[in-house]
Amino acid sequence: MSDILQHQEDGVLTLTLNRVEKKNALTAAMYADLALALSGAATDPGVRVALIQGHETVFSAGNDLADFMNQPPQGTDSSVFRFLSAISSFPKPLLAAVSGPAVGIGSTLLLHCDLVVAGDNAAFSMPFVNLGLCPEAASSLLVPQLMGYHRAAEALMLGEPFMAEAALDAGWVNRVVPPTEANAVAQQWARKLSQKPMAALMETKRLLKSGQADAVAMRMAQEGEMFRRMLHEPAAKEAFAAFFEKRRPDFSKVNAA
Ligand code: COA
Repeated sequence: MSDILQHQEDGVLTLTLNRVEKKNALTAAMYADLALALSGAATDPGVRVALIQGHETVFSAGNDLADFMNQPPQGTDSSVFRFLSAISSFPKPLLAAVSGPAVGIGSTLLLHCDLVVAGDNAAFSMPFVNLGLCPEAASSLLVPQLMGYHRAAEALMLGEPFMAEAALDAGWVNRVVPPTEANAVAQQWARKLSQKPMAALMETKRLLKSGQADAVAMRMAQEGEMFRRMLHEPAAKEAFAAFFEKRRPDFSKVNAA
């Protein structure tokens, strides 16, 4: 079975991350499937709303760290970059339902969704620094706008998880519900949106986003260039090795060099 399930009904395209045994860590192939589905949905008149959801125990552990080691993204034609482009420019309503861990891109992709429903077990984290990396998905621009500089610096520098209620307080998510209900509530909202006049919805989204669409695209490109470079640096290599060896990373040699 595919790691991305696709279901289309009543104008709603539901994309389900389906690699629960690896905590829905996203591989290059999964990004490619998501990017293709979303770019198709953007122009398919049969799709009026898209919804990305995970499992009630986990949304996503972020990028697959083995992929980062073995086949790091090379450029703007990489599948992760195509996915980020697709969500940041998706012209129709894009929803997400998030329960359990939402790590790295599992958190930052939500910044490009219009409505987010969170299970009360949702734990958001952006541990880029802990992995020797820098922010992605324009999060260095969007997170401070959302949370204010200091809370953004805490989230992006310390990289520690914050829970659904804090995300609600920051405006990162719209509603917190029991984890078993998150996908269903998001589905209800998606159905509700799919019955509204499409032109009005799309124009509203375009206007909401138009103030900084160019800035988001530019920041995403800048971050992407730096991120790809940092993937090859000793700090990232140490962090990835530590994860798979189930030990704490030791950056003392990297910092002393
Ligand atoms: N990439 C690749 N494999 C991953 C992964 C990732 N990002 N996250 C989890 N996995 C794998 C684990 O290696 C493990 O595989 P195994 O059963 O073959 O040993 C399996 O998924 C279960 O993960 P585990 O860590 O045992 O689950 P947990 O419930 O204890 O913790 C997380 C869940 C999400 C908190 C933890 O897995 C984690 O921190 N993952 C890494 C997150 C990360 O740094 N992502 C990159 C962000 S840029």
